[in-house]
Amino acid sequence: MLKTKICGIEFKNPVFLASGIMGETGSALKRIAKGGAGAVTTKSIGLEPNPGHKNPTIVEVYGGFLNAMGLPNPGVDEYLEEIKKVRDELNRMNVKIIGSVYGKNEEEFAEVAKKMEKYVDIIELNISCPHAKGYGATIGQNPDLSYNVCRAVKKTVNIPVFAKLTPNVTNIVEIAQAVVDAGVDGLVAINTVRGMAIDIKAKKPILGNKFGGLSGRAIKPIGIKVVWDLYENFDVPIIGVGGIMTGEDAIEYMMAGASAVQIGSGVYYRGYDIFKKVCDEIINFLKEENLTLEEIIGIAHE
Ligand code: DHB
Repeated sequence: MLKTKICGIEFKNPVFLASGIMGETGSALKRIAKGGAGAVTTKSIGLEPNPGHKNPTIVEVYGGFLNAMGLPNPGVDEYLEEIKKVRDELNRMNVKIIGSVYGKNEEEFAEVAKKMEKYVDIIELNISCPHAKGYGATIGQNPDLSYNVCRAVKKTVNIPVFAKLTPNVTNIVEIAQAVVDAGVDGLVAINTVRGMAIDIKAKKPILGNKFGGLSGRAIKPIGIKVVWDLYENFDVPIIGVGGIMTGEDAIEYMMAGASAVQIGSGVYYRGYDIFKKVCDEIINFLKEENLTLEEIIGIAHE
């Protein structure tokens, strides 16, 4: 009932793991696959190993989490060894892999994407990390830089390429237009919302990086509005992400225009099998309303 096709790829369901959570190792990805996800997204991977920011890198706040990990990862060559360990098993479970990529410039993005291409089903470009100095949202907040990165990757790989957008912009349609012009096959929205928390006893910011990205329940209405705007303006598939905890949240994103959704913080609140739970909740709703998955995508638009 939840089987769906996006960019010619068949997914057993449209409820995926978001980048940044449980994507560090092959065995973590396998655990999420067993929890019922239709696809798993890796942590954002760069060309060279990166230790990330200093602790603390995450803090729970009202409505979600603030985090500034600093894109820690072992570098693409070592990370691919993790994927190779579990790729066959994920394949047998019919769970697709989305490879999240970051880089300092367009050449680096393209090189990492090229190395990943053979081992993943979709490339997701993280041009939207809220605090990676010089190469996160700096790219995703600038239409020309966003165009250049997406164009370079599109010229280099032959699998579908999605761009993950930051909500930390004045006009998201302008950025989306640039990446669609560059030829991306789909959009992922939203990445985290920039935020800060201060320890009033220590009298200083809690995070080692001082500020970070807000995820969780608090950002869902922001994500819904972004997905709505993208659906109104573009014809490419949209993956909705931001504050999805339940099937009802996922359906809200789908009614705004998302063909699939990703879950990150929700894993903390509802466990590894949140994917199965959300799928069951979507199925119950569709049965009650006598609707199909296809029918609800964008249904809230006139
Ligand atoms: C990090 C990356 C992100 O894209 C994000 O939204 C939040 C944090 C990071 O690695 O620090």
